[in-house]
This record gives sequence, structure tokens and C-alpha cells, in this order.
Amino acid sequence: MRLDKYLADMQKGTRSQIKTYIKKGRIKVGDIVVTSPDFKIEPGSDLVLMDNVPVDYVFFEYYMLNKPAGVVTATTDKKEKTVLDLIQSKRNDLFPVGRLDKDTEGLLLITNDGPLAHKILSPKNHIDKTYYTKVKGQLDETITALFFKGLQVDDDFCALPAKLTILSYDKESDSTTAYITIQEGKFHQIKRMFAAVGSEVLYLKRVSMGSLKLDTNLQLGEYRPLTSSEIENL
Ligand code: URA
Repeated sequence: MRLDKYLADMQKGTRSQIKTYIKKGRIKVGDIVVTSPDFKIEPGSDLVLMDNVPVDYVFFEYYMLNKPAGVVTATTDKKEKTVLDLIQSKRNDLFPVGRLDKDTEGLLLITNDGPLAHKILSPKNHIDKTYYTKVKGQLDETITALFFKGLQVDDDFCALPAKLTILSYDKESDSTTAYITIQEGKFHQIKRMFAAVGSEVLYLKRVSMGSLKLDTNLQLGEYRPLTSSEIENL
């Protein structure tokens, strides 16, 4: 890998700033000052220093974010705050795995590991995504059965079987809490599924994705790196 790319990947400046740093002799590889930006580096084995401070190369980063409502699931947005604005990372190529609506909270995996994202999101792999929800009205076993069979949401979309676990009904607010587990991630899928059975989602929070569970110590807007066993299990 070129030295300037190595440093740019590690967010040490823009490509042109980095070229200037290199030409000024601020970068060493081992004991040697290197002044050509295209000098070849073996990430993970060469020791690169900027102003005598080692710059380790990180290939992949994995973060669990407890997404708050009010931020959009995107890498950049002209108007809105994005989930990536909440994360300070070493790399500049991170992206969210799957999409939560602006008003949805909860577990969001942020990484630059494309193959892992593909594995988690592909419906073929049947990875469970579980949400805690509060919906309008009283749900009963008829709806659980409809969801379990594979709900015809509209003319164009029949959902794969989903597991609905009803938790409680509150008479005063006329609302039901439940867990719902789906294996796909169509646009507004859960909201559309409840709308199709005459209900309305009032609150939605993702609590798990495959083996990955939302860390209950994370407050809304907080994040942490995944542990190595969480990464391996995914
Ligand atoms: N389904 C929805 O409707 N919204 C989400 O944010 C996630 C799943």
C-alpha cells in the first residue's frame, strides 16, 4: 500500500496535506525518514511514525451504536445529523449495516466490513433482527398467526414469516408492547406490517441482530467497539 494512502486511511489528513507532511520529512518508516508519498508499506508489519508517534493500521472497525431518534441512518446528509456524526473512528470508510428510520432507536452496527454487512443483510441467510415495539390498539393471537404465516403487506410485498411476541396491553393508552423478529429489512417494514393489520407503530427500537445484542449499558447516542467474541460470533 502507498504511504500516503496508509496515512489517509488512518485519517491523518487529506491526501494533499499528507503529501506535504511526507515531503517535509515528518513521516518515518522504521528509523528512516521517507519523503516519497508512493513509498510501499506492508500494513500490519511496517512501523510507520508521524512526528515520531506510531500510526497503527486498522483494517476493519466494528462499533455498536445505540441509535437515538432524530438522526438519519446514512453516511452523509446535507441537512440532517447522521449516525456517522455520532462516531469517532480511525477509518473514514465506515457505514451503517442496514437502515433504521429516523424515529427508530436501538442497535446499529457500524463497520467498514462489506462482506460481513452483506451476510447480515441478505434475507437468504435468515439472520434474525428483533425489535421492541409499542403499537396502537390491542394485538391478539390472530395477528401473531398472520405474521407467522408471512403477511401480505400490500400488492407488491409479502413479508417472510415473522415472530410476534405480545408482552402487554395498556388500556389507558390503548396500546400494546411486543417483540417482533424479522429476517429481512424492507423499507419501513415493521411499520408497514402493523399498518396492514390496522395498527400503528408508536415506538420502535432494535434490540438484537443475529448473535449481536444491544448493550444495555449504552445510553441513546452512545457507542462502543464490538468485542472480539462479538465479531467472531457474527
Ligand atoms: N422497520 C421499520 O418500519 N422501521 C425501522 O426503522 C426498522 C424496521
